[in-house]
Amino acid sequence: MKETFYVTTPIYYVNARPHLGHVYTTLVADTLVRFKRQRGVASFFLTGTDEHGINIERAAEASGIPIKQHVDQIAQQFKDAFAHIGIEYGRWVRTTDPYHEQGVQKLWSVLQDHGYIYKGEYHGWFCGYCNEFKEVEDDDTEPLCPVHDKPLDRIAEESYFFKLSEMQDRLLELYRSRPDFIQPETRRNEVISFVSGGLKDLSISRVSVKWGIPVPGDPAHTIYVWFDALANYITALGWGNSQYNDFERYWPGIHLVGKDILRFHAVYWPAFLLAAGVEVPSSIRVHGMWLSGGRKMSKTLGNAIDLSVLYRHFTPDMIRYFVLREMAFGHDGDFTYEALIDRVNSDLADGIGNLASRTLTMVRNYFDGVPPTVSGGRLEEEAAQVRAAVEQAKAGVDQEFDGLNFSRALESVWAAIARIDKFISDNQPWKLAKDPARRSDLEAVIATAYEGLRQVVLLVAPALPNAAREIWGQLGCSGDPLEINPAGVAWGQGRDPQARIGQITGAFPKLPKDKIMSEIEKEKAAAAETTAQEAASEQKSVKETASAQEEVSQARPATDAAPAATPEPAVTGTPALAPTITIDDFVKVDLRVATILAAERVPKADKLLKLQVDLGEGQPRQILAGIAQFYSPEEIIGRKIIVVANLAPRKLRGLESNGMLLAASIGEEGKPVLATFAEDVPNGARLK
Ligand code: MSP
Repeated sequence: MKETFYVTTPIYYVNARPHLGHVYTTLVADTLVRFKRQRGVASFFLTGTDEHGINIERAAEASGIPIKQHVDQIAQQFKDAFAHIGIEYGRWVRTTDPYHEQGVQKLWSVLQDHGYIYKGEYHGWFCGYCNEFKEVEDDDTEPLCPVHDKPLDRIAEESYFFKLSEMQDRLLELYRSRPDFIQPETRRNEVISFVSGGLKDLSISRVSVKWGIPVPGDPAHTIYVWFDALANYITALGWGNSQYNDFERYWPGIHLVGKDILRFHAVYWPAFLLAAGVEVPSSIRVHGMWLSGGRKMSKTLGNAIDLSVLYRHFTPDMIRYFVLREMAFGHDGDFTYEALIDRVNSDLADGIGNLASRTLTMVRNYFDGVPPTVSGGRLEEEAAQVRAAVEQAKAGVDQEFDGLNFSRALESVWAAIARIDKFISDNQPWKLAKDPARRSDLEAVIATAYEGLRQVVLLVAPALPNAAREIWGQLGCSGDPLEINPAGVAWGQGRDPQARIGQITGAFPKLPKDKIMSEIEKEKAAAAETTAQEAASEQKSVKETASAQEEVSQARPATDAAPAATPEPAVTGTPALAPTITIDDFVKVDLRVATILAAERVPKADKLLKLQVDLGEGQPRQILAGIAQFYSPEEIIGRKIIVVANLAPRKLRGLESNGMLLAASIGEEGKPVLATFAEDVPNGARLK
């Protein structure tokens, strides 16, 4: 039977926007699948969204839109974030998909038939962010989640339990007999020690959560979100439903997960499967966390890397390379934009980018665009060293990718790039080109560099698909480098004798660090300010809804944003000036005169006013402004204002805002004072 490969990522919660951490795991899966496919292995890549549970119920309440619409929107944001960076998954599972619900209920029924589920009463504490029951000191009356620093919910309700306590020996036997089941070793040891300490039965249903899959035969209960979510790995292949038919072909697969969700994958999931008589996964590969400012990057902690900023300044290949190269899989890594720019400049612009453009330029200038073929001559020994470095990189990539050591794999390729570069610099082909007697040396240098580059492009293709395709085309090679197995491309062999190099374009121009950093700082400050405003109004609304509707829960904020960045005060007490911009920067902002036609408060958002403004466009625009604590709707109707008219639309509390009005910010509380005109000006006039 032909070898197949199945890889999964966690399915992501739709209670917050995607960030770099989510992109990371998905990128690793994407790279791995591209690597396997390049080697001819039929591969299947599953990712998706985890859409049930109390926290999602609350996030939807806070945003004021129907829950299904809320989850649809955020699921789409995840899809967009992944599409932008070139992730090509095979299937996107959503836990609200009917086939998945059917599969989850089937798994439940099988476990029930096998005698692993019973009804009881649960008393304890629950974190809606982790979706996990927590152990708490007996005398702690207001415990916080140790991961999220958030108040836990007190739960006292009827619940179904899974007999996890009966699974201890079988789990320990699994870990013992399959040492590779949990990787790396440190995580395996952690799990073994946890399970050896004894397991309690697991509460797997809730009556106080409505947004979930009903328990078969007892719809007052919904199935515990982790039971529901973990099952995705098999339901999306068609287990327990008739939607798909891929289970036989692809299961078991490997699960990529962050260390934050190790226990669910390494203990609960195999326990469910063993009890149900379904084969367990082939392995669980656990990676570390991207930290930001020294703490795990997360929306809840307010330190997540904003993808809109990241994507604005860096191409997908730059981001892909950085995360794969910078973080040793399994270890934590600190994310900084400075490090990203440095890596791009040193490894991509000065490394592979520079090698490609200098080699191609010399083929064009000295050989009329027709790459010379490898010839040894006087430089044979040195050329052989270059070739050996490339062969070593080839072996390194094969070995290290399989072990998910992307960083080491890329390191070996960049060692080969450095060796090729050195060979070029040592032999100074630009001097050889001036001496007709040294034509064969020139040919040997360029032929070796060209061949080395051709091999290198195939090796980097799974990690840098766009650049690989671009350089491959410029080399004059045919086919798709992502579909060519490097093992089948021997040194100097299989080249098209008619090949001519294509148009040379720099795959990786150097990034201007200072300029980019100053732009990013400004964007971060602006984003922090809006998030803080949103958080303030959401906090209030969640408190209200939570205390009204959830008898067992405690009111708490849904979002925890970073505090608003306040500019450093200057000596005079006025805020310090923002960094200098050019006129080109300024003209990007389209400021227009407008009149407020209508204004009203937004329910449950005490800071927001919803305005209809006339910008001379023929129909009014809707703008949301955080001025409700300082201006009443009545007093501003009819006012002339200034609007940033080309700001990307955004949603606040479920309402679209199509622009921003300008106001001065006064005093410590930032009281807004609307900007206006002393003379009469027509709506739509531009400010310059
Ligand atoms: N819905 C659950 C998973 C269910 S899987 C059956 C969940 N979702 S999550 O949205 O919180 O995603 C967690 C996963 O996202 C982590 O395990 C990891 O794969 C990725 N990451 C989230 N933050 C991350 C970092 N800061 N760094 C690296 N990966 C991160 O848990």
